Amino acid sequence: MNVPLLDLVAQYQGIKHEVVPAMMAVIERQGFIMGPEVAQLEALVARLSRTKHAIGCASGTDALLLPLKALDLKPGDEIITTPFTFFATAGAIHNAGGTPVFVDIDPSTFNISPAAVEAAITPRTRGIVAVHLFGQMAAMEELVPLAARHGLALIEDAAQSIGARRKLDGQWRMAGELGTVGTLSFFPSKNLGAYGDGGMMVTQDDALADRLRRLRLHGGSRQYFHDEVGFNSRLDTLQAAVLVAKLPHLAGWSAARARHAARYTQAFTGHVAVCPPRTDPANEHIFNQYTIRVPRRGELQAHLKANGIGSSIYYPLSLHLQPCFAHLAYAKGSLPASEAASEQVLSLPVYPELSEAQQQAVIDAVLGFYA
Ligand SMILES: Cc1ncc(COP(=O)(O)O)c(C=O)c1O
Repeated sequence: MNVPLLDLVAQYQGIKHEVVPAMMAVIERQGFIMGPEVAQLEALVARLSRTKHAIGCASGTDALLLPLKALDLKPGDEIITTPFTFFATAGAIHNAGGTPVFVDIDPSTFNISPAAVEAAITPRTRGIVAVHLFGQMAAMEELVPLAARHGLALIEDAAQSIGARRKLDGQWRMAGELGTVGTLSFFPSKNLGAYGDGGMMVTQDDALADRLRRLRLHGGSRQYFHDEVGFNSRLDTLQAAVLVAKLPHLAGWSAARARHAARYTQAFTGHVAVCPPRTDPANEHIFNQYTIRVPRRGELQAHLKANGIGSSIYYPLSLHLQPCFAHLAYAKGSLPASEAASEQVLSLPVYPELSEAQQQAVIDAVLGFYA
């Protein structure tokens, strides 16, 4: 049986009668730049994230870069982040003129350890980028007061966690609701994926929202008048139209992912070799990825491939050990939880359209390999 890691064609077949007319409306109008769908999507995402503002931009990477630029970093300014994430998290810090400072993760959730963040704060620290990895939120109840105590910006990289929430003091809080800014990606493989690149920034801060709106339009608040040098980083109107059409499905898709995850976890719990991911009980996890830890990972992945099953390693090399950050001089072994994760993790198919038979084939192949 063929079980891809992700099946976007299956999703498209179910929604093309909604998405194609939305795209065609933009094409018929020939209004591709900052069309009404962009503002429409911004309003919908602000409501979902419970923020005052949502500002579309060209990608999840730019959604990180623009608020980091808004910090006006000076050479040597430090931004603390996790090494166990997609490269963009740290690349954006570098490209905004900051120095990424990597600290270790909580091995049970793969998310940044607040204690490790606190231990890494120096007089040069300007901010924290916490990633809500794989679909569950980091420990915001510790990170928010920590950032406030030290006067630091707290950026929530929610590229993988749109619509995820976490209970703080008995109240549900959305990904992006509590930080200085939350950043979203609409990369096609995300729970809410565009038909190309796209991103969004959410914030409660009026002044920051104005600055981010300028930064995405070459730093100008009026056309041809520039207060500062910004970027061309608009959200494409065609992508906004796709996303407005897809957004009503997001909650159902994320719930289907969570159901698949629960079934995997039931099958893998107590197994000697396969360690299922842990959901922090405070979190509602949206499972952009379902990521197990296993021994003999390379052999398992080859076995799955031979059985027609897709899988992927997110992420095979911790960012503090990437060649491009060699000048930061992190030694191998310096962030052991992140390094162990990068050696053990394997993500399995968890997309909403996965059938019961397909999922059973994945479970049988994984357990069969260790039998
Ligand atoms: C955690 C994380 N941050 C940032 C990004 C960057 O988003 P994009 O690919 O839309 O630029 C991604 C997605 O790929 C991601 O997973």
